[in-house]
Amino acid sequence: MKLRPRSYAICGGAFGDEGKGRIVDMLVHQLSQEGPVVVYRDNGGANAGHTVEFPTGQRVALHQLPSGVFIQGAVVVLGKEMVLHPSDLLEELAQVNQVEATADRAEIKIDEMAILSLDTHRAFEAVLKDWQSGGKGSTGRGISPAYADVLLRHPLRMRDLVHFDEAKVSQHYQMYAALIQGLGQNLAELEVSTLSGPKIKVGTEKEFINRLKQQADQLGPLVADIHDWLAEQWSDHKCGFVFEKAQAVGLDYRWGVYPDVTASDTTFGGIFSATEGVVDPEMIEIKAGVIKATYMSSVGTRKLPTLMKSELADRIRQDAHEYGATTKRPRDIAYLDLPALRFFQKVGRINTLILTHMDVIYADQPVKVCTAYKLGKETVEYRPDQEFLNDVTPVYTELPSWDAKKLAAAQKYDQLPKEAQAFLKLISREIGIPVMMITTGPQREQGIVF
Ligand code: IMP
Repeated sequence: MKLRPRSYAICGGAFGDEGKGRIVDMLVHQLSQEGPVVVYRDNGGANAGHTVEFPTGQRVALHQLPSGVFIQGAVVVLGKEMVLHPSDLLEELAQVNQVEATADRAEIKIDEMAILSLDTHRAFEAVLKDWQSGGKGSTGRGISPAYADVLLRHPLRMRDLVHFDEAKVSQHYQMYAALIQGLGQNLAELEVSTLSGPKIKVGTEKEFINRLKQQADQLGPLVADIHDWLAEQWSDHKCGFVFEKAQAVGLDYRWGVYPDVTASDTTFGGIFSATEGVVDPEMIEIKAGVIKATYMSSVGTRKLPTLMKSELADRIRQDAHEYGATTKRPRDIAYLDLPALRFFQKVGRINTLILTHMDVIYADQPVKVCTAYKLGKETVEYRPDQEFLNDVTPVYTELPSWDAKKLAAAQKYDQLPKEAQAFLKLISREIGIPVMMITTGPQREQGIVF
């Protein structure tokens, strides 16, 4: 198959929070120097989180807006299979506009088919949490009930909001009120999270509808049928494309470990369905999985086979700020688990790796990496099944750490400390694909492309 030039797709290659946002930001920045660029996000919603820091010290946490929103000349697209919470989105837009005047930032387009994720979903998810273990690990942003609406064939979409289909919205409220009443609670009285302010009551049907009507007026100008426009940009090879996946392959509802899974397709496959077949992911030139280089992190109840139990975990958590961007929960820290990463590479169709956090390294600690699992005497591969994973014993290898100063000073592969080069070779050999880039610190310029 012929590859489409100037096309990149970036996904999380582990359990999320690998640092995808800054990679997307860097790529969009580069591509925008050469011509127009589209940044397309196809999955997830307010469950994602990426904080952008400006030289002025200002910080903006992006949740629903793709990275690249601050880059002039780019068009960022919120695609058909995203689940969008209108008032959180408006608040996020207001924060973005505070930093960058509308004329200086990227253009924003929202697919009119994008799915709505509303306060009703947040309330239902919270009530459900008391009933089933599946809701336990969620970010509380109503993501899975919004996706469940699609499977149950009654989703509300962006166009229902902006053309305000009151009958549909009313039916939606009444259905959730009935479900929640069945579980012993009153929808109108339940409080749900807002992006940054205090919790608010969902309110009566009338209050809920009035709030949405106001939001519809404000979001209206950004919402459009984008199908033909997208097809035109994709066939114009002068236009750069960056597909930004949310969450990570290890959080996919098919490839993750229950109950810590999200409800969307977190693999590159989701791009095909969200764009209605316009973009065949097989044609995307670079399909990169982002992973942390020297360790792994995860939030939730899953028990990682390579969980770090030493004080090194606390050290890493503090140094690398390993607390959830959306929920602020402390993350579990684990040794790099190559059987898991091999699995995510295979099912995620990842063709190259980007390693972040190469600078999370300690002179007094070797880099410990799990290369295989043993089940009894047998060597086994990773499977997304907690019961299976509880029984495996990781096999580790240790590599010498590298000099942090020498790493920070390196501009190209040859200048990397030889220990870092040996580490990269091992990762690439074990996962079976090349490493295209590493990051050596948090700033945009602290990255080396090979
Ligand atoms: P949900 O997406 O809110 O339904 O949450 C499902 C699971 O995915 C939970 O364990 C979350 O903590 C996890 N999760 C969702 N989004 C992210 C993310 O962007 N980074 C890391 N974990 C996430």
